[in-house]
Amino acid sequence: METKKFTRKEIAERDTKAETVFVIANKVYDVTKFVDDHPGGHEILVNVAGKDASEQFEDAGHSLDAKELMQKYYIGELVEQDKRQVIDRNVNWNLPPLPEESASGFFSSWKFPAALGLVLTLLYTYLFG
Ligand code: HEM
Repeated sequence: METKKFTRKEIAERDTKAETVFVIANKVYDVTKFVDDHPGGHEILVNVAGKDASEQFEDAGHSLDAKELMQKYYIGELVEQDKRQVIDRNVNWNLPPLPEESASGFFSSWKFPAALGLVLTLLYTYLFG
C-alpha cells in the first residue's frame, strides 16, 4: 500500500472544528476519534490541530504505549520538501569522539607545570632548607 503524502499547507487548511489532524515527526495523524480519550486532555490536542506538534509531543514525555497507540491514527506522511529534521531525544547524539591526547603533549598538558613545580620545590628545599 502506498503511503499518502500531505503538504504542511494541506494540513493547516483542514477544518479543525470537524477534525483533528496534526504532524508529529513528519508523520500525519488524524486523532478526531481519539481526542476525547486522550489521557493528556481533549483541549491540548485540538489546540495543535493543523500544526506541527512534534515538540509538544516530545515534551510531554509520552510512553512507549502512547507511541504504539498513535500508529492507530497514522494516516500518512509529509511530502519530502515539507519534512523537517526530527527531534528524537533518545537517539543519536552524534557527538564527535574526544580528541586523543597527543604524544607530544608534554608541554601542553599538565605534566610540564607539574614537573616544573616539583623541580622548584626540590631546588627551594635544597637552597633554603
Ligand atoms: C496520536 C497522538 C497521541 C497519542 C496516541 C497520545 C497518547 C497519550 C497517552 C497514552 C498518554 C498517557 C501517558 C503515556 O502513556 O505517555 C498521553 C499523555 C499526555 N499527552 Fe498525549 N498523545 C498524543 C498526542 C499528544 C500531543 C500532540 C500532545 C501535546 C500537544 C500531547 C500531550 C500530552 C500530555 C501533556 C500528556 C500528559 C498528561 C499527564 O501526564 O497528566 N499528546 N498521551
